Amino acid sequence: MNLINKILAAPAVALALWAVSAQATTTDDIAKRLEPVGQVCVQGKECAGMEVAASAAGGGAKTPDDIIAGHCGACHSTGVLGAPKIGDAADWGKRGKEQGGLDGLLAKAITGINAMPPKGTCSDCSDAELKATISKMSGLK
Ligand code: HEC
Repeated sequence: MNLINKILAAPAVALALWAVSAQATTTDDIAKRLEPVGQVCVQGKECAGMEVAASAAGGGAKTPDDIIAGHCGACHSTGVLGAPKIGDAADWGKRGKEQGGLDGLLAKAITGINAMPPKGTCSDCSDAELKATISKMSGLK
């Protein structure tokens, strides 16, 4: 029942990461939070539609790496329950075709599909953050 344990552990890991980041109070960190979203989103590349949700959520925009480490990676790094593995271009490419590209995959990620939970358990992720994360995992633009 290792799989089940892994799945149950995912939200706990996310919570722990969140707690750690909530404690970071260096000036660097504060400066980063105050940066306009337009600058912060450079790292994730997919900036279109980044505007409101990300900054309103409090704590600033999450990077794809944060989201993968805290949520998606629990299943997508090893392919738990048939999840497409990070960087598996063939699997992601096929899914992208089936869903009509990155936006279609985003729609499925938001609602969930089969064993894939809604928003991949990142309930406070904005659509733009999820999209940037899917782009990073799949290599699709
Ligand atoms: C509990 C495990 C689990 C977590 C956590 C998870 N996924 Fe998934 N994901 C899956 C599985 C399983 C599938 C394959 C579903 C299927 O096709 O039957 C999947 C498929 C997908 C797909 C392809 C959907 C399609 O239409 O083919 C996308 C996009 C996706 N996940 C994004 C994410 C993102 C983004 C995150 C993190 C925010 C995430 N997932 C977290 C298990 C997970």
